[in-house]
Amino acid sequence: MRVLTGIQASGKLHIGNYFGAMKPMIELQEKEELFTFIANYHSLTTSKDAKLLRELTFDAAVDYLSLGINPEKTTFWVQSDVPQVLELYWMLSKFTPMGLLERAHSYKDKVAKGITANHALFSYPVLMAADILLLDTEKVPVGKDQIQHVEMTRDIATKFNNEYGEIFTLPEHVVNDEVATIPGIDGQKMSKSYDNAIDIFMETEKKLQKRCNKILSSSTPLGEPLEYDGCHIYNLASLFLDEQRKLELQARYKGGEEGYGHFKKYLKELIWDEFSEAREKREMYLNNPDLVKDILSDGAKKMRIIADEKMLQVRNAVGIL
Ligand code: ADP
Ligand code: TRP
Repeated sequence: MRVLTGIQASGKLHIGNYFGAMKPMIELQEKEELFTFIANYHSLTTSKDAKLLRELTFDAAVDYLSLGINPEKTTFWVQSDVPQVLELYWMLSKFTPMGLLERAHSYKDKVAKGITANHALFSYPVLMAADILLLDTEKVPVGKDQIQHVEMTRDIATKFNNEYGEIFTLPEHVVNDEVATIPGIDGQKMSKSYDNAIDIFMETEKKLQKRCNKILSSSTPLGEPLEYDGCHIYNLASLFLDEQRKLELQARYKGGEEGYGHFKKYLKELIWDEFSEAREKREMYLNNPDLVKDILSDGAKKMRIIADEKMLQVRNAVGIL
């Protein structure tokens, strides 16, 4: 099964991103034919700073490789290294009714937030459709906010196929409902916009501990049993634990000998240990940027072959010599 995931490089990754999006993606590569790319043309719709966009693109590649994208199993590239996608975007534009784009929630939300409407922002879903259709994608794992974009892709592909024959495979979105919303240090959904995130790659253990210490907890005095149910520290810690170790932690809460400070320290250790291998890999990639570039360049090469084949079909179908 051909599965495509697109990554918007937007800075430091947090634990919510890891459990909500990255871990399921990394597990997918064991089972499916996974294609993953960094959507830097999409980022251009809102980016104002060339240096920053370059850095974010590189950092995202390093982070994903460090956390487990395996270039031997997954085709991994940067969107702009496969420019065929822009030609397809134009071809698909003709099959995209204005009304379809006008109904896009994500566009309307961005405009409501004060982002100036421009054509790239408006036609963002057509470029996403081109990403998806260029490689006969069957499944697209997405967050709920992106479902509509995959549905639009199906609409556009259907219109094209109706006119020119069965050129495109109709993709399906996959939303992983099992993944719970990971809480931040205040108990609300963890998000980089709410200043409540715990980043995956904190510079030092001390800084990570400081962040964990900020997790909101009740004020039961030390020496009394604590309630783990609904405790943000427990909820975060349990992400890293199997059933047996969850029971052990519950027993420690009920034991009444430890306070929240102990559990915050325990959580810090869980996080620090979970990502220790990834931290080492990250150091290695940061010290060997050429290795990262080579991996991305190999991925793009593979993709360009697939893209050329598809574009030949498309060009033939529409009558472009
Ligand atoms: P943020 O809210 O920090 O801006 P993004 O919107 O960039 O995060 O999300 C990137 C991916 O991580 C999406 O697939 C999203 O579903 C997932 N994700 C982000 N925050 C959480 C969370 N708190 N719990 C579960 N998944 C999350
Ligand atoms: N729009 C997606 C997001 O913001 C990123 C993306 C671009 C994408 N092209 C894609 C995701 C193709 C899946 C498939 O998260």
